[in-house]
Amino acid sequence: MTQRIAVIPGDGIGIEVIDAARIVLDALAARHGLDLAFQEFDWSCARYAQSGTMMPADGIDTLREFDAVLLGAVGWPGVPDHVSLWGLLVPIRRAFHQFVNHRPARTFAGVPSPLTGVGPGDIDILVVRENTEGEYSQVGGRFNHGLPEETAVQEAVFTRRGISRVADYAFEAARSRSGRLVSATKSNGIVHTMPFWDEVVASRAAEFPQVEWRSEHIDALAAKVVLAPRSLDVILASNLFGDVLSDLTAAATGSIGLAASANLNPSGEYPSMFEPVHGSAPDIAGRGIANPVGALWSVVLMLEQLGHPEAASDLMRAIERSLADASTRTGDVGGNADTAEVTEFILSTIGAGESG
Ligand code: NAD
Ligand code: IPM
Ligand code: MN
Repeated sequence: MTQRIAVIPGDGIGIEVIDAARIVLDALAARHGLDLAFQEFDWSCARYAQSGTMMPADGIDTLREFDAVLLGAVGWPGVPDHVSLWGLLVPIRRAFHQFVNHRPARTFAGVPSPLTGVGPGDIDILVVRENTEGEYSQVGGRFNHGLPEETAVQEAVFTRRGISRVADYAFEAARSRSGRLVSATKSNGIVHTMPFWDEVVASRAAEFPQVEWRSEHIDALAAKVVLAPRSLDVILASNLFGDVLSDLTAAATGSIGLAASANLNPSGEYPSMFEPVHGSAPDIAGRGIANPVGALWSVVLMLEQLGHPEAASDLMRAIERSLADASTRTGDVGGNADTAEVTEFILSTIGAGESG
């Protein structure tokens, strides 16, 4: 049966890395006999500039019919970020109950880590980020505009159901990996939500006796990512903490251009969305030098979720080979290839693992 994939390139380098992803997907589909149909949507800041909205009013209903969403990045100077992101990305995550944001980070052979003494295989961290509630909330407001008393109030909303379900996913992931999990907290400073988070996580942990887990304050945990990354495996974090930690874990492996993510609706009732962790990078957009690996690794996660493990590992092997050599990786990871050259190499390498 045909699997339908909605493709939203978005803005800036989102367009460039999704271009690479589409080329690679076509080759994988041909080699592995995948029946994939793609439909592209121009939902972006460019669309906003023309029509006043990031996506049509029935955009969510349109996406509902797809098996997966592949997204580049949205956001562009001239459109306030809260407008572009709350007009597209955040509503998709919420409408489709993509409550898990699965964000792996690994050190690859060939890619230098900025951390002294950290080499290939030393970092293998999975950040499991709560993705539909928490600090990302529309509850609050701004008062007394322009006055010295001007005040902004932002409420964080945590629910027992919301914490439990993402915690279950993270404990399950830890059980299938090393059996170790750290839950990021700030219960010493944030007195309502974080003690609640800790309590609910502890109650779910009781269901996973095989997993050795502990809570760590987010500040100390951030330091640990830099000082002792080998000690970390699965990190469970709230929406905002997970957002920050996943750029940090990615940078620790060499570049945020490497990092992949899956916004998962684990029940499969709604489409999941796959996107690189990075944004539209206006500072390098249009130059053809963006690292496509974050987007391509996100394609690997998408293929796994769609039930194509062989195609997924074929692509992952090709990504690893490209990273191993400076001539086939981009400048942000110490290479001298541009986006098209990396893509070309990966295309020529797909399938290579099968014949030896
Ligand atoms: P960013 O991730 O776009 O860029 C941060 C830095 O990393 C920049 O110096 C950039 O050049 C570099 N970088 C990012 N991806 C790279 C890649 N693939 N290859 C090489 N270098 C790369 O973050 P930002 O500058 O804070 O945000 C830019 C815009 O993107 C903003 O509008 C922001 O809101 C948006 N954004 C969107 C998403 C998304 O759609 N999922 C995610 C993050 C940021
Ligand atoms: C990410 C991004 C988004 C987030 C922004 C652009 C709203 O930074 O996917 O990590 O904070 O979730
Ligand atoms: Mn982010």
